[in-house]
Amino acid sequence: MRVLLIGSGGREHAIAHALARSPRLAALFTLPGNAGTAALGVNVPGDPCDIGLALDVARREGIDLTVVGPEDPLAAGVVDAFQAAGRRIFGPTRHAAQLESDKAFAKQMMKMLAVPTAESRVFDTYYLAKKYIATRDEGVVVKAAGLAKGKGVIVCPDPADGILAAENILEKKMFGEAGRQIVVEELLLGREASLMVVTDGKTIVELDAAQDYKRLRDGDEGPNTGGMGAYCPSGAIDAATMRGIESEVLVPILAAIGREAAPYCGVLYVGLMLTAGGPKVLEFNCRLGDPETQAILPRLRTDFLDLAEAAVEGRLEQVDVQWDDRAAVCVVLASGGYPEKSTAGLPISGLRDAATGAEDVFVFHAGTRHEADRVVTAGGRVLGVTALGSSVAAARDRAYERASQIHFEGVHYRRDIAADVAAASDSAAPDISRSGG
Ligand code: AMP
Ligand code: GLY
Repeated sequence: MRVLLIGSGGREHAIAHALARSPRLAALFTLPGNAGTAALGVNVPGDPCDIGLALDVARREGIDLTVVGPEDPLAAGVVDAFQAAGRRIFGPTRHAAQLESDKAFAKQMMKMLAVPTAESRVFDTYYLAKKYIATRDEGVVVKAAGLAKGKGVIVCPDPADGILAAENILEKKMFGEAGRQIVVEELLLGREASLMVVTDGKTIVELDAAQDYKRLRDGDEGPNTGGMGAYCPSGAIDAATMRGIESEVLVPILAAIGREAAPYCGVLYVGLMLTAGGPKVLEFNCRLGDPETQAILPRLRTDFLDLAEAAVEGRLEQVDVQWDDRAAVCVVLASGGYPEKSTAGLPISGLRDAATGAEDVFVFHAGTRHEADRVVTAGGRVLGVTALGSSVAAARDRAYERASQIHFEGVHYRRDIAADVAAASDSAAPDISRSGG
């Protein structure tokens, strides 16, 4: 099968890697890809949101299936355009992708379906937002309603900071058009988990849940980022909790999307806060998480190409999902200055050493590209080093050992990815218990 993959991050390299393990993959094209995907197929330069270009590539290269990695092309309607052209594509339509691209839409749908989530209000004027936040004596979370690369959320334990955040987003346009509207939410407390499912709108295939680390610095300090590391399985969602999430979140949301427009096809990502009052939805994404994917897909034994194709063909009930029992830990290596800015073009050394001689270590490229015969930085999150191990502790040690072999000017990464759970798994059972599906 000839596959076109859209995107250029660490998630896309992990998807490309999973696709490349399929005996059915004949050729892989990535639009635009990075230095990692270039080793697995052909990178096609261009804007991943250029739908006309994606269609041209699909026609020219005789593509049988297109897989969309990031949210922006989905929000721009790439799936609708491919479907209209009679081409098979894995991902939700523009309407369904509003669950991610418009937080006000997602909140309204959750309210309508009584899906457990934080209490919230939507504002498009600073004056009204300020008036509302001033009445709150508990913490608030202020979110740009539109797409802001995972950085459009400001957590404010002190409501006075919430007023500032509302001003920065609505008046000072710190997130540009993505902040035309804001959502102001109650601050929830608890442990977080990322749950991803693959669905054709009828069958829900749960992927093992993962834990993401969104803050820049150790100890969950510093600004929110796209994600600085992850481990899988998260172990945070037991079977009973999972059944509750299915019946109170997944089934009603997918049914509502199907009623309003077309069946949801692709990945639905549910960001959860496991509060004392039960799990509550923090956000929906309409695609795989980054860097969660880098910790999830290396554990997937089932052929990812089969899984994506079955979803597109509406026969997911036929797929039996199998997992590697080992744990996976992914550590993200970021550029100096990330998330505010990053320096491109810095040479990266040690890549070969880090990946050599180990079937259980994966160096996933994110912001990288080839320059002459070198690999150089090309973005904020540069690499994700994933290792598998018999316990989270073992996987973690291995991931850090390999990450330390890679160098570029300004490189930094969190030192505490999976540290808490590794300490717990070291002192309790050495093996990981399965969670999720
Ligand atoms: P989101 O992109 O909406 O998932 O938000 C990014 C991060 O902000 C989440 O992973 C949480 O750590 C935090 N967050 C978002 N909403 C809330 C909330 N209502 N209460 C507490 N933390 C939140
Ligand atoms: N890691 C969070 C996300 O992909 O949205």
